[in-house]
Amino acid sequence: MKILGIETSCDETAAAIVEDGTKILSNVVVSQIDIFAEYGGVIPEVAARSHLEVIMPVIEKALRDAKCTWDDIDCIAVTHAPGLLGSLLIGTLTARTLAILHGKPLYAVHHLKSHIYANWLETTVVPRFPLLALVISGGHTQILCMKAHNDFKIIGTTMDDAIGECFDKVAKILGLPYPGGPSIAKAAKNGDENKYHLPHPKVAGLDFSFSGLKTAVLRAVQKELNLPISHPSHDLKNHLMKQQVNDFAASFQKTAVDILLEKLSEALKEHPETQSVVFAGGVSANEVLREEARRNMLLRSINGDGSFTERPRPVTTDPRERSEKAFSSATFFPDLKFSGDNGAMVAAAAYYEIKSGVKPTDPYHLNIYPRINIDVAP
Ligand code: KG4
Ligand code: ZN
Repeated sequence: MKILGIETSCDETAAAIVEDGTKILSNVVVSQIDIFAEYGGVIPEVAARSHLEVIMPVIEKALRDAKCTWDDIDCIAVTHAPGLLGSLLIGTLTARTLAILHGKPLYAVHHLKSHIYANWLETTVVPRFPLLALVISGGHTQILCMKAHNDFKIIGTTMDDAIGECFDKVAKILGLPYPGGPSIAKAAKNGDENKYHLPHPKVAGLDFSFSGLKTAVLRAVQKELNLPISHPSHDLKNHLMKQQVNDFAASFQKTAVDILLEKLSEALKEHPETQSVVFAGGVSANEVLREEARRNMLLRSINGDGSFTERPRPVTTDPRERSEKAFSSATFFPDLKFSGDNGAMVAAAAYYEIKSGVKPTDPYHLNIYPRINIDVAP
């Protein structure tokens, strides 16, 4: 089954054709990063207009790259929630029109579902249920429990900022370019992660909070520079030396990674039945997170009492399995090219919706939902 996946929820215009939820026939992503680097963040109206300009060329290139005509496409999948209103509208209106025009079934996919299903792309070694998914993106920080395909339960979520948003805001304080995640990761390579001690928020249960961490960085920078707390945050970068920026980036990144992995360990203790742990979303590209997760052997806590049973590695010729994909046979990171927003993951998520019995949506009535949780989205 060949699915055309379309993604425009934020600042990437993307389309891909994926066969049977895993085989990439084409994957086209046009990023607006260059436009927004100048502003230090996404401007929704500009994002929507840029989507409109490139959406059809992107879809046409996806068809060309895959050597497909419309006759080869079995159905269309598109992100309808959550995201920026104008951005979601461009993607869904395009998908609705194409579905009507070419007579294809249309599937509406929740964005976080897509990020999770990025872990099923281009691999024969797939996560096993029940699994825990840590979704870490620019707009979300959630731990989800999945007992089967297309079955999601949120067991932890952020009370305020998302982790990616926190990377972006801290980068701004340090004078590093947007998007903050990659630029903090780069600066941190030359920094001392133990230089500044940043607090871990005390949040009960499996929920997160990141707004305090952002403020803690702000206060630590002001203190380091001997400036009062009234000193405007946008000016601090003019006083920081390169090494200080690198040290703050490294200390912040280490703290953020520790907070994520601590909560995930708690979730594993509460869910000893877990068979796989799946990382998803833009922040899952973070190398330190990948290394730390590998070192921590997260599934050690799987038995609840700290004992760990090494699972037999599945026999596979999959190059990703042999390299970094699964550091234990049960922990999964998406391939780096699928950790950010893309159309392939939308197609993969739709494939498993279809396999779970989900019916196509009416292209004349498909709605968008800028803010809606995965477990209640239609
Ligand atoms: O999933 P995504 O591409 O878009 C949303 O659905 O939000 O995530 C974007 C977020 C941004 O906040 C970006 O700074 C962050 O992912 N990000 C990273 C890295 N690469 C992207 N954060 C930390 N480390 C990275 N290497
Ligand atoms: Zn995303």
